Amino acid sequence: MSYVFMKVLESSPERYDFGIKILSLGRINKIMHDMADSVRSGDSVLEIGCGTGTLAGMCGEKGGMITCIDLSDKMLSIARRKIERVKERVDLRRLSAMEIDTEFEDHSFDIILSSLVFSELEDDELRFVIHQCCRILKKDGYLVVVDEVEPDNLIPRVFYRGLRLPMAISTYILTQRITRPIKDFKEKIKESGFNIVEAKNYGFRTQLIKAQKRD
Ligand SMILES: C[S@@+](CC[C@H](N)C(=O)[O-])C[C@H]1O[C@@H](n2cnc3c(N)ncnc32)[C@H](O)[C@@H]1O
Repeated sequence: MSYVFMKVLESSPERYDFGIKILSLGRINKIMHDMADSVRSGDSVLEIGCGTGTLAGMCGEKGGMITCIDLSDKMLSIARRKIERVKERVDLRRLSAMEIDTEFEDHSFDIILSSLVFSELEDDELRFVIHQCCRILKKDGYLVVVDEVEPDNLIPRVFYRGLRLPMAISTYILTQRITRPIKDFKEKIKESGFNIVEAKNYGFRTQLIKAQKRD
């Protein structure tokens, strides 16, 4: 729920790492290590919305070859400093997730990673991006995503939205942007040609989903 304030943090990238630790109640490091665990040496990896490059650095240390995309020049410049030790294995590009259809060929990556980005997309954008992820993954490739998900059942969902609303309004006043917890996340991923192989909850509606491209 606290991720509702993410847009406020993003407007001040130099404070992002500190802020996200607080919003995630200290869980962000564990979450990113869990995501990086899927990467093997030599894997070609795409990270969508790399932010300040923490996860990219971890994947680089594991020997992955990572292409990182993000919309924000400020985030990318912080990431550039952070991945210095593994810079020969990390390619940072200013690119929108909405451009991956023209930028990457079919079967380009072993793994696609993305944390706390899909909740920033509109529903039709999210479906488009997941569909493209399936296209650009190699056979049996993995999509590993972490984000804020909505409760599945109606009453908890309504209650959750009600609790979140005042925070969403204050974030909107400060940034003119909002994030939205993802509804039916697993179903959307399955519909795009994946099998879910792992779903892990970190509390406060934060979920990691690991999905494998179907034949
Ligand atoms: C909340 S931050 C998450 C950063 C990092 N993945 C993390 O977990 O700390 C969201 C990031 O996604 C980027 N972003 C948002 N929409 C995007 C889009 N359509 N394409 C690429 N990057 C995007 C933002 O610039 C920001 O760096």
